[in-house]
Amino acid sequence: MQTSETIHPDMMEATVPNRRWTPGRLGAAVEPQKGIYVIQAEFAQILLQPVSDAIVRIKLLLDPGKAFDREDLNSTIAVQQEAFVPVYSELKETNDVYRLFLPELTVELNKTTAQIDFYTQQGELIASQEEIYSSNRGEYVCRNRMEAESHIYGLGEKTGFLDKKGEKYDMWNSDVFDPHVPEIEALYVSIPFLVHFQPGKTSYGLFLDNPGRTSFDMRTQPDAYTFQVNAGTIDYYFIPGPGLPDVLRKYSGLTGTMDIPPAWAIGYHQSRYSYMNEEEVMSIARTFKEKRIPCDVIYLDIHYMDEYRVFTFDPVRFPNPRRMIEQLQEMGIRIVPIVDPGVKKDPEYGPYQDGVQHDYFCKKLEGDLFIGDVWPGASAFPDYTEEKVRDWWGEQHRYYTESGIQGIWNDMNEPAVFNTTKTMDLDVVHGNDGTPKSHRELHNLYGMLMSMATQQGLRKQLGGERPFVLTRAGYAGIQKYAATWTGDNRSFWEHLAMSIPMVLNLGLSGQPFAGPDIGGFAHHTSPELLARWTQAGAFFPYCRNHSVLESIRQEPWAFGEQIEDICRTYIRLRYRFMPYLYTQFHQAHTTGMPVMRPLVLEYPDDRKVYEMCDQFLVGSDLLFAPILRPHTESRSVYLPAGEWIDYWTGERYSGGQHILAYAPIERMPMYLKAGALIAELADDEAWKPEMSAQSAIELVVYAGSAGTTSTGQWYEDDARTYAYEEGSYNLLDTKMSFNQGDIVLAGTYRVRKLPLLREQLQLRIKWLAYAPERVTLTTSDGTEELEALGGSWSYDADAQELKLQLPNTHDAFEVVVTSAGTVS
Ligand code: GLC
Repeated sequence: MQTSETIHPDMMEATVPNRRWTPGRLGAAVEPQKGIYVIQAEFAQILLQPVSDAIVRIKLLLDPGKAFDREDLNSTIAVQQEAFVPVYSELKETNDVYRLFLPELTVELNKTTAQIDFYTQQGELIASQEEIYSSNRGEYVCRNRMEAESHIYGLGEKTGFLDKKGEKYDMWNSDVFDPHVPEIEALYVSIPFLVHFQPGKTSYGLFLDNPGRTSFDMRTQPDAYTFQVNAGTIDYYFIPGPGLPDVLRKYSGLTGTMDIPPAWAIGYHQSRYSYMNEEEVMSIARTFKEKRIPCDVIYLDIHYMDEYRVFTFDPVRFPNPRRMIEQLQEMGIRIVPIVDPGVKKDPEYGPYQDGVQHDYFCKKLEGDLFIGDVWPGASAFPDYTEEKVRDWWGEQHRYYTESGIQGIWNDMNEPAVFNTTKTMDLDVVHGNDGTPKSHRELHNLYGMLMSMATQQGLRKQLGGERPFVLTRAGYAGIQKYAATWTGDNRSFWEHLAMSIPMVLNLGLSGQPFAGPDIGGFAHHTSPELLARWTQAGAFFPYCRNHSVLESIRQEPWAFGEQIEDICRTYIRLRYRFMPYLYTQFHQAHTTGMPVMRPLVLEYPDDRKVYEMCDQFLVGSDLLFAPILRPHTESRSVYLPAGEWIDYWTGERYSGGQHILAYAPIERMPMYLKAGALIAELADDEAWKPEMSAQSAIELVVYAGSAGTTSTGQWYEDDARTYAYEEGSYNLLDTKMSFNQGDIVLAGTYRVRKLPLLREQLQLRIKWLAYAPERVTLTTSDGTEELEALGGSWSYDADAQELKLQLPNTHDAFEVVVTSAGTVS
């Protein structure tokens, strides 16, 4: 709770920084190791480390007199060491400047001012770091130029809108139960990665690799943004585009991309704080089945434990967890239990005894254990900065995996502690695998290291099956270990609206697998809010309905038939689009492109979309415009360039315009890019949980207008094991052209390593206005009528749909659909 004391002059930061210190003039430069450059300044040294052709790391070494040592190159665990590749580089000196040349980047350092300018190979000035100084509080600050046309994205999990220009944020993982309002500067996840976009110019990313408290201020100065560190030093990576997708790809190369999740993890998930006992869990599961609403996961919140001791089940509430899990498995539903880091201080409890005996818990320098209050009361906290502790923690999960559990929910891992600072004491000293550091320096890493330990433990124990980990806290690189949900939001319409930019910016910060508590966690949802939130939430990468103790119930059926029908329809639609969604996760895994995308990512030349975050894309081809206010039956939708088809009516619109969409309670405006190829589950599959390699899938083409072309992609693997890492998957690329009189669809399996899963490919061309006369198939064996090659087709004039069955034995094929009239 804030009071007037909050605005006491002593508590306020001076807005005009008092520069106590700058690095001073630059002097001599050395290359202590091949391709590592250290420039001596009067009061510091500046280390330049090329990472790859276009990425450079810049680190301020604070002691001007210290000789270089290899430890100066240490980075946090967020950075993948494989990202550093041998690269040509050369440092040249003139009277005024140093210039570092990389194949795709030139960095220029002014000897007098220490200003650092970044240029493309073609000489375009991408960014200017005008100053480095220390503030009146002794924090190190960098000031970078910001233009009138600059837009700032990324920065992880933050409140507010999409464009972060004009905002100011802290990176300090915090358990915030207060309503998430625009002035909250820090939430649970901290990703100090800023993306700078300016129309027509090279975009860049800036990753500040410092897990202590850092701040980004895009507000105080009109023509500059600053970033500052509170502990340790400035250590950042400059990542030029040219485009936003290039920035994301390169950033993901540096901090890693997510694994492809098991398909069940991208299904619909149901949670409640808490489903109190086995009967309640089973009855929730049965209700999903009876109502034919797909659900892949039910969560167990803290009440499943024995007095909140992690790695236990309460013997009365859950007398036989293994049996319950088995029964649920037969229904196609998995259990994901919550695991918090606090280990109850209890001399008779195994994990506590073990942790104390082996010295696995966080301690003060003087040797006392740090004990903090959380759900179980006084608790110790594992020191996940040590590999041996992570291994131990991971091993503890056998308790769950041996009962058939494959997913874990990590919460309270900022870490949250019920004390005045809301977290662990800053003078705790983490072992950090031989380089001890205080909690003040490492705070933001704690949650990620817990999820890393969990993910690695589960992976070892699951015999090749992919685990699922959900986390509340995280740092840069969290995508490698866990999905994130956006913590304790509320059942406010404002929070439904805010969840869009929040998850979009998480995606632009390397974390594609994220979503809010659908329906809202705290406060009480309403029938209409649940309906609208389920409609939108059904297309977020992570999809879970969760609510707090004593709030009004918000399972899909909680408000009677009408709302239940709406929830069912949209949850099933998620399942219908699951193969497409899964293809987007494959893309996120290979390229770092987010699953859920702001329009600016795909339409960077369109000025209307730079702040647009009341609508979003999934992949490039699906556009959603949720209703974000009560009693609203229509809304304005912006359709970007191209042609768009209303999912519900088939009506076509040319892009580059606003339209007024009709959206009664049962309808969320949704559009498909004309020409899109969307891999979908066949109708009769779309209500079953868990997509598998056996599911019936059809490739649905939403016909484009004559004269247009399009491309599509469909990725498929076994949907549950790591065999895809060994190349066991199929990747089909398609190219379509829609012409006057014919449609040509060419398919090529770029990779085809799965055993023949489908004898026939099912294809459906939707919104095809004219009946075809002929369908031919061209393969390496030549061209024939489709029927002659064992395929078939049929046209439904009322539905304007052409269904095709193609023999699936060729790695490349071309289908030509010929009709007398125009094709659409
Ligand atoms: C925290 C979590 C919430 C959970 C609750 C009880 O508030 O954010 O999701 O239900 O703790 O475990």
